[in-house]
Amino acid sequence: MKILVTGGAGFIGSNFVRHVLAAHPEDSVVNLDKLTYAGNPENLRDVEQDARYRFVKGDICDGTLVRELMAGVDAVVHMAAETHVDKSNLGADEFLRTNVTGTFTLLEAARETRITRFLAVGTDEVYGSLSRGAARELDPLNPSNPYSASKAAADLLARAYWTTHRLPVVITRSSNNFGPYQYPEKVIPLFITNAIEDRPLPLYGDGRNVRDWLYVLDNCAAIDLVLRRGKDGEIYNIGGDNEVENVVLTRQILRLLGKPESLITPVADRPGHDRRYALDSAKIRGLGFRPAHAFPAALAATVDWYRHHEAWWQPIKSGAFKAYYDRQYAPR
Ligand code: NAD
Ligand code: DAU
Repeated sequence: MKILVTGGAGFIGSNFVRHVLAAHPEDSVVNLDKLTYAGNPENLRDVEQDARYRFVKGDICDGTLVRELMAGVDAVVHMAAETHVDKSNLGADEFLRTNVTGTFTLLEAARETRITRFLAVGTDEVYGSLSRGAARELDPLNPSNPYSASKAAADLLARAYWTTHRLPVVITRSSNNFGPYQYPEKVIPLFITNAIEDRPLPLYGDGRNVRDWLYVLDNCAAIDLVLRRGKDGEIYNIGGDNEVENVVLTRQILRLLGKPESLITPVADRPGHDRRYALDSAKIRGLGFRPAHAFPAALAATVDWYRHHEAWWQPIKSGAFKAYYDRQYAPR
């Protein structure tokens, strides 16, 4: 299969490209990525020389470019997005442009070029905060922040292209991913790298918000399964069945690094902070998917990865990310 991956230089994208090249020797991948602050060519340095891999720097809003790239592939796995909730709360223009207009541009090009599979990578955040139970695929969407609202819009557009144009769309909605190559604005890599540097860990609100953690390689395997075996027009939740309160997660990270809990620094809450996400993943279990990585071991492996890859994250934290970080976590 020839696959166009969008956003392949980001966190999940780079892990997914590496997964496909390793798991499917007959496949090839074109990676279209704009290299925003979150995209990093270093994430795929190890596969750069693989003849089955090609990188194209470009924007998913560029209709001419995406039509040209789609003409040569069988399937699209669309992951490019603006992804950080706090950033969307500070200003949402880029979120609407990339997540909504970009998705629309890709769907139009896929329709014109008669793509045989269009997989749109979505998020559990579109269901909104749940006080109890777990979201199922056809539950109403109830996003609470500009990021999740833009992702909900993208999902609805993708579904509409299936309903109206019979474009063979499938949608995955996963819970919070963690693992290697995650940009250190997200809580796990931020807290690991801050703790390594003996810097404060800014815990929002009462620290009791709950996320369902999924190791990134499990999400990649699940996306790959839906790509090959999912049914046209269907949505598949991908959860880790692993709900953890933020404060518990924070203590686990500190324990793994042998750092004191005094680094935990309560800060003002995120506006509109969703209390809890939870997914019912029965449908993708029906396709045969089971997460292969237990949370404690995967978290320990992730901590080790950041410990041994300072050369990857130090330039990020001291460069472009630093200005954002300094503004976001200025003393209140
Ligand atoms: P990321 O922020 O690490 O990477 C996003 C990538 O998209 C970057 O490489 C960036 O350069 C690229 N990009 C952004 N705008 C672009 C544009 N206009 N044109 C081309 N490329 C562009 O994101 P991630 O955490 O790897 O998330 C990937 C996808 O998975 C997103 O769609 C996100 O909504 C979804 N998702 C993420 C999580 C998570 O926990 N990280 C969970 C569920 C769903
Ligand atoms: O649920 C899937 C979503 O997970 C993805 O769609 C998003 O792209 C991804 O960013 C992530 O969103 P969250 O907002 O859940 O992730 P984040 O890492 O930003 O925050 C996780 C939790 O940690 C959340 O409750 C807020 C809290 N937090 C976060 C940061 C950055 C803190 O307490 N302190 C922090 O500094």
